[in-house]
Amino acid sequence: MDGQRPAAADGSDGERGGAARIVKPRPAELFIDHDNNAEMRWESAENQRFATENDRFFVRNHTRTPLIDAASYRLRVFGDGLAGAPTRDEPLLMSLDDIAALPSQRVTSLLECTGNGRALFDIQQGMTVPGTPWLLGGVGMATWGGVRLSSVLQHAGLRPDARDVMATGLDDPYIHGGINHGRVRRPIPVAKALEDCLLVLEMNGEALPPDHGFPLRLLVPGWVGIASIKWLGELEVSTKALRSPWNTYWYRMTGGDYPPDSPPLTEVPVRSAFELAWRAVLPLGEPVILVGRSWSGAAAIEHVEVSLDGGATWEPTQLQGPSSRNAWARWEVPWVPTAAGEHHVLARATDTLGRTQPDTVPFNNEGYLFWAVVRHPVVVV
Ligand code: MTE
Repeated sequence: MDGQRPAAADGSDGERGGAARIVKPRPAELFIDHDNNAEMRWESAENQRFATENDRFFVRNHTRTPLIDAASYRLRVFGDGLAGAPTRDEPLLMSLDDIAALPSQRVTSLLECTGNGRALFDIQQGMTVPGTPWLLGGVGMATWGGVRLSSVLQHAGLRPDARDVMATGLDDPYIHGGINHGRVRRPIPVAKALEDCLLVLEMNGEALPPDHGFPLRLLVPGWVGIASIKWLGELEVSTKALRSPWNTYWYRMTGGDYPPDSPPLTEVPVRSAFELAWRAVLPLGEPVILVGRSWSGAAAIEHVEVSLDGGATWEPTQLQGPSSRNAWARWEVPWVPTAAGEHHVLARATDTLGRTQPDTVPFNNEGYLFWAVVRHPVVVV
C-alpha cells in the first residue's frame, strides 16, 4: 500500500542491521521527513534549474534502501516470452558491464509518486485517506542515463508473442498486515517496454544513488512512480498477462464511485506546484515573482493560469521555454500582495491533450492521484 511505514510493515523501528531506511542526508531545509519516504520541499527547487538535483530528489521506499555490490550484481532475465524460454532457476544473467555495452541513451523525465498530493484530500476535501501525507513534493525530474529496455529484451531474444514484462526489486520483501507480499514488483505491457522505457545507470550525470536504485533501476516515463522499479533484480518476460499485488491490489482506484474492476494506474495526470513553502511568508506591498511548474505524464503543458485571489479571477502565466511530454513546464507571474493575512494562490494547467486540472477529484480508498487545483496558502505580513 502506498505510504505504509516500516514500523507497520515489518514491526521494526526502521533501522535494522545498520541499514538506514534512506541513505542520503535529508536536511530539514530540503526534505519533509515521512520515515522511509522523503518529500522534496518545493521551496528548495532552484528555479533556474530545469532538473531536480539528486540531493533533493524525493525518495519513496516500501521498506529500506539496500546496499548492493556492483561487482557481483547480475540482472536475471527469464520467461517464456524469450527465445529458449530461460527459467527463473536458469536465467540469462547480465552484469553491469554487459548492460552498459548496449547502446546508451539519455532521457529527461519526471518521476512522480502515485500518492503525491494525498494530504490535499484531507486539507481541501475533508476526506480521510491512509498512507504518507505527501503535499506536492513527491515528484522530481532528472536526466536519466542508461540503456533502452528494448535493447536488453532484444539481446535476451524477445519473442513476437511476448505480452508482459515483470520488473522485481532487490529490496526486502514487503510485509503488510501480517502478509508477506514478496519483493516489490509490477508488470508493464511489452508495448510500453519497447516504446520508451530505460534501464537506468546514471541520474543527472552521476552514478545512480543508492536511494534511487543503484546499481540499476527501471524508468517508465510518464507512468506512476511504482512502475519504475528500483534495485532491479529480475525481468520476467511472459506470453501471458502477469500479476502482482502492485497492479491488482494497490495502484488501482478502489472505493468511492470507482468500479471494482478499475484498471491498474498508468499515466500521471496534470498537476502544478508553486516553488513556495506551504504557508510561505511574503512581505506586504513588495513585488514578488511567483514561480512554479506544471506537468503531465501524457503530453506537454499547453498553458497555465494562476489565481492570486483565492480563485475569484485568473490570469495567464508566461511559460519559460518549451514544454514536452514527461518534462515539466516552468512559469512565473508577478504579484504585489496588498492585504495582510492568509491568502491562497492557485495554479491550473492544461496539457496539449486538453486535460485541465479540475476543482475537485473523487474519493478513492488509497488517496491516489490528487490532481485537482491546489489552494496554496501564503501569509502576507
Ligand atoms: N522499487 C522498489 N524496488 N521498491 C520500492 O519501494 N518504490 C516505487 C518505485 N520503485 C519502490 C520502487 C515508488 S512507489 C516510487 S514513487 C518510486 O520508486 C520512487 O522513486 P525514488 O525513490 O527514486 O524517487
